[in-house]
Order: sequence, then C-alpha cells, then structure tokens
Amino acid sequence: MRTILVSGGAGFVGSCLAMGVKRAYSNVRVVALDNLKRRGSELNLVRLRGAGVEFVHGDVRSMEDLESLGAVDLILECSAEPSVLAGYTSAPDYLVNTNLLGAVNCFELARRHGAATIFLSTSRVYPAAAINSLAVDETETRFVLRAEQSLPGVSVRGISEQFPLDGTRSLYGATKLCGELLLREYLEMYGLKGIINRCGVITGPWQMGKIDQGVVVLWVARHMYGKPLKYIGYGGRGKQVRDMLHVDDLLKLVLYQIDHLDSLTGQTFNVGGGLEVSASLCELTALCRETTGAEVPIGAETETRPADIRIYLTDYTRVTELTGWRPEKNVPAIVQDIAAWIAGHRDALEAVLA
Ligand SMILES: NC(=O)c1ccc[n+]([C@@H]2O[C@H](COP(=O)([O-])OP(=O)(O)OC[C@H]3O[C@@H](n4cnc5c(N)ncnc54)[C@H](O)[C@@H]3O)[C@@H](O)[C@H]2O)c1
Repeated sequence: MRTILVSGGAGFVGSCLAMGVKRAYSNVRVVALDNLKRRGSELNLVRLRGAGVEFVHGDVRSMEDLESLGAVDLILECSAEPSVLAGYTSAPDYLVNTNLLGAVNCFELARRHGAATIFLSTSRVYPAAAINSLAVDETETRFVLRAEQSLPGVSVRGISEQFPLDGTRSLYGATKLCGELLLREYLEMYGLKGIINRCGVITGPWQMGKIDQGVVVLWVARHMYGKPLKYIGYGGRGKQVRDMLHVDDLLKLVLYQIDHLDSLTGQTFNVGGGLEVSASLCELTALCRETTGAEVPIGAETETRPADIRIYLTDYTRVTELTGWRPEKNVPAIVQDIAAWIAGHRDALEAVLA
C-alpha cells in the first residue's frame, strides 16, 4: 500500500481514522480530502499536519478533485452531510450530491486505480417506522427492547444485519443505503475489495456536536458552557435511547479490517456500542452533571421530529464473530473523554460548540 485516501478526512471520524492509519503505517502516504463544509473541521487541519497526514482542500462531488490525488490503494469514505434532518430543514441537493454522487465518485476512483474501499455507512439505513414499531417497555429512565418481537433481526441486544430494509428512513439514510448498494455492485462487477460498516452513534473528542448531529458532544458541551438543553419528542421526557461508539474503538476495527481486507471483502457489518454502551438522554444528563459538576436547564418538547427513533441499539454479534472486535470504552469513559477535551480547548471550541 502506498497511498490511503480519507474522504471527509478533516471531519470527526475521518480525521481520527486518517491520523490512526498514519500512526499504524508510517511509510504510507495518507491524504485527507475535505471541503471543510462542516463547521469546526478546520480545527483539525493543524492536528492532521502534526500527524503527517497530507491535507487536500477538495470536494467529493468533483471527480477532478479526486483524480488530482494520483493513484490510491485504499479509500476510507468518511465524507458526508451526516445530519438525519438534512433535507427536511433545507433543500436536499447538497445531501444527495455529497452522500450519494460523492460516494459514487469515490467508488469510481477506486475502480480506476483498483483500490479497496471501506465505506462508513449508518444504522439509519434501517427504516424509522419499523424501528418505532418495535415492542418496548419503559423504565424510570429509558425505553428498553422487549425479548419478543414480531420483526426478524431484533432482540434485547439490538438490531442486527437481518433487520428488514423495507420502508422509508430519511433522505440521509436513503443516500447511504444507495451508496452501499452501488458499492456492492462495484465490488462484484469490477472485482474490487470493500467493506461496509453500518455505524450507530459514533462520538468522542473532536466531534463538532450540534443540534442536529453529534448529540453526545452537544450534551456535554452545553453542560460545560452553561447553556440550556431540550428533550425533544417521545413525550419530552428524555427516555429515548442510543448506543455510542467511541471513535477510538471504531479506529481499532478499521485497522483490523485494513489488515484483513482479503477475508472480509464484501461484508456489511452493524457496528456500535451495543446495549452495554448505551444511554437515554436523561441518563446522559445525570452523567454530565456528575462529570462536569454543572447543571443546566432542560426544557421539554413533546412533538417528535421527523425520522426520529425511540431506541437504537446495535447488535454487533456478527462483526465480533468474524473479527473478534468489540467496543471497549463505556459511557462514563466516553463522557469523561469528551469533557477533558473541551476543558483543554475551551476557548477554541466555544464558537463551534456553545
Ligand atoms: N458521527 C456519527 O455518529 C456517525 C454515525 C454513523 C455513520 N457516520 C458516517 O461517518 C462518516 C463521517 O461522519 P462524521 O461524524 O465524521 O461527520 P463530520 O461532519 O464530522 O465529517 C464529514 C466531513 O465531510 C466533509 N464534507 C462534507 N461534504 C463534503 C464534500 N462534498 N466533499 C468533501 N468533503 C465533504 C465535511 O466538511 C466534514 O469534515 C459519514 O459518512 C457519516 O455518514 C457517522
């Protein structure tokens, strides 16, 4: 391997993977291509440079920008408009052009150079209505999945790759699912190597959390900067649940996948923190209070947002079976990591996070 391209390489996941692969393969040229659309991604440039990652200001919507990089051997496709609300509150063209056409441009670059691709997909490929139809119980602080369910691919552990894909899922989820389908065709038709990771919530330091994306960082940051929060939807009581994956845990999996591309090619994995690394919003509030010592006002909005889901837990049994990987960082460790990062860069981050 001579060159690894990380598209969206100045973003939260992309920068962590780019620096991580550069550490692991110091002789390889690692290029982070990003158009810096995401506010705060520019803060990663100095970190990328320090780690020996080459930065190219470019756009995945432009084949010319991608071709200007020369030959590549592996593409980590991390560019995206990653908000599930994109297209609802603004026109959908940027989302579709980046997440779908941009992804196809990356696959096309892979075809031209015979490169392998690891595609960062999302749990949002699973239809929202089907997830919201699952049987749940309600405890004092959260929703929990019942053991008996009428749909396949779901258990108390969460949602596996067998969960049905029929239904709508948000434009974000749809563009990522289309990307997955096209990547699989590229792999089959052109004999390329590739892996798809359908990730639940990924979080950790250097995520530029905002109202519509990056909820864990948003939650910790609002506590640290003393700004109010809101429980939105599902009665406004903060019982909706997500699992969380620390980005360092994701990096470990991706490094394993790079080393085992031959045996893992063509696989689609559900990747996330799972039941053990999950929290409801009100549980997250309690942890933030404990970690930061701060308490902020939390309002309630009973109306549920479009494409929102009551609970998502990743059943990552399959990826563990095939790779031995499992998430290591728990929710308190994740919250502490994020709080320490914000405390260490309080002024620089204030304009983005507060
Ligand atoms: N963060 C999560 O919870 C999560 C969960 C599941 C999947 N994912 C996927 O992981 C990938 C990375 O997400 P992230 O959390 O790092 O988001 P991010 O917004 O931090 O990173 C995406 C990067 O892509 C860049 N970008 C946007 N449009 C571009 C374009 N047209 N050309 C080039 N660069 C462009 C942005 O500037 C940004 O730096 C995405 O594909 C996302 O769908 C993220």
